[in-house]
This record gives sequence, structure tokens and C-alpha cells, in this order.
Amino acid sequence: MNVLNLYCGIGGNRKLWPKECEVTAVENNPQIAKIYQDFFPKDKVIVCDAHKYLLEHYKEFDFIWSSPPCPSHSRTNTFLNAQGIVRYPDMGLWQEIVFLRNFCHSKWVVEKKATEIRFIKGRLKFSGHKQGAPFPSCIVIFKPASHEKKSYVATKIRK
Ligand SMILES: C[S@@+](CC[C@H](N)C(=O)[O-])C[C@H]1O[C@@H](n2cnc3c(N)ncnc32)[C@H](O)[C@@H]1O
Repeated sequence: MNVLNLYCGIGGNRKLWPKECEVTAVENNPQIAKIYQDFFPKDKVIVCDAHKYLLEHYKEFDFIWSSPPCPSHSRTNTFLNAQGIVRYPDMGLWQEIVFLRNFCHSKWVVEKKATEIRFIKGRLKFSGHKQGAPFPSCIVIFKPASHEKKSYVATKIRK
């Protein structure tokens, strides 16, 4: 089986895969890539941008695993914001999900944290137009963090 391991890090998820898999691992940090290669000398390790690599090579694999970094769209962004790192969430993860869902015929997984994506069946129709939109649509749900959930429940009980 020909597997693509995107954003491979030092290979935490790779440790659970059978040794017989032929793995191409992509990581943009050369020091991390070196640690991965030491752990898995038979894997082909490529140092480059995984997001771009996916777009150019997705057809070449039987299975794709993608673990984009979560800090920009998870709760980590809250404490980074408090430290003065103010930024929009990086939507690359969602781009990969929508892209793979539409164009990839192999099995794939994109790891995501604490949020949900729901795809809308068919195409949206806008008023005044006979034809549906030429693009697929989805709803991205950012679930409240556990402390926010508690205060929401508390507010409901008080009422
Ligand atoms: C969530 S960690 C991956 C963890 C890994 N799946 C594991 O189980 O050990 C994300 C990794 O992606 C790398 N990374 C971040 N942006 C990248 C990019 N654009 N292209 C390739 N690797 C990237 C980071 O250096 C980090 O090692």
C-alpha cells in the first residue's frame, strides 16, 4: 500500500501503521524531518510544503493521512492571542478536506481538533437563478470550548 503521510512531524501516527506500507512523508521543518527519517529509515521523507505537495501528488497514493498543525484554529490560538500573536485561523485544513472530498478517489484522513464540518448535499441555489452554484458548500462548526459549554449550561439552568 502506497501511503502519503502529510505534516508527518516525528511520526507519532506512523508508529501505528504496518511496516509493509510504502510511505512518503512530508514535513517542512528539516530538523523534525531528520528525526522522522531516523525513526523510519525506509520511508521516503520530503522536506517541503505539505499543502502544496497534496495538490500536486494526491493521485499517486492509495491512502492519504494529513495532520495539519492545529494552533491557528484550535484553542491554542486563544493563548497565543493573549501573548500578542493576533491572527486569522489558517483555513488550509478545511481546504484540504473540501479538496479531497471532491477530487480524491483514494481513502483519506485529515486530522482536525474539536470542530466539525458538514457538507451540504447537492448544490446551493440562489434566488433568481435556475442553476445551482458551480461549487460545493459546507458548514464549519466551531464547537465551544469545554469551559464555555459549562457557562452555557449554567446560564440555561439559572433561567
Ligand atoms: C500536528 S504536527 C504532526 C504530528 C504528526 N502527525 C505525529 O503524529 O507525530 C504538524 C507538523 O507539521 C509540520 N508543518 C507545519 N506546516 C507545514 C507545512 N506547510 N508543510 C509541511 N509540514 C508542516 C510541523 O513542523 C509539525 O511537525
